[in-house]
Amino acid sequence: MTTRINPSILAADFANLERELGRIATADLVHVDVMDNHFVPNLTFGLQMVTRLQEVSPIPLDVHLMIDDPDRWAPAYAEAGAFSVTFHAEAAGEPVALARKLRSIGARAGIALKPGTDAAPYLDLLPEFDQVLVMTVEPGFGGQSFIHETMPKLTRVADAVHAAGLDVWLQVDGGITEETIGIAAEAGADTFVAGSHVFNGDVPAERIEALRAAVAA
Ligand code: DX5
Ligand code: ZN
Repeated sequence: MTTRINPSILAADFANLERELGRIATADLVHVDVMDNHFVPNLTFGLQMVTRLQEVSPIPLDVHLMIDDPDRWAPAYAEAGAFSVTFHAEAAGEPVALARKLRSIGARAGIALKPGTDAAPYLDLLPEFDQVLVMTVEPGFGGQSFIHETMPKLTRVADAVHAAGLDVWLQVDGGITEETIGIAAEAGADTFVAGSHVFNGDVPAERIEALRAAVAA
């Protein structure tokens, strides 16, 4: 199984983001959390910042939009060159039309589910997506604890992906550490977002390798 480790720059030093990107250059993708203070009660950055990050990042961008009205705003992130653009199911008006739009621009399309959101209505739509993000914390803040109760949902999505013979990446985001990553992998995840665990280490690259080793174990 291919495993991807995507550090979240939400936990990085915002005053030195180019340097921080260099410290995680051995990761697969850099996870970029866009928050609008409406969909979630926190505010990070928007298109202008993501466009600049895209220009200086040594690895591709995995953009996670925690915003209202992604139908309106998400395509611009694909146009800025993001490798993947993931929007929330709870916020999207026309998720299939939006996914098709993102793909037509050349980005991978992702759909995210908050911990309390049932996956069932989305299982038939899986062929429209390249990635499903099962949130393992409530979106909005880094440094929260992994919600174990989300694992049955992750497995349900993984089973549906395999039953349909699809190549849809299954991402988890929130509370991922060397302890929890194996639990999520066991439940079906292949793509792991980690913010504080990576950036709280003195050497983020070592934390990335430790996470890889913990999945392989
Ligand atoms: C939370 C964000 C996450 C966050 C994860 O809303 O979507 O990407 O950065 O942070 P940790 O790894 O600290 O839980
Ligand atoms: Zn995220």
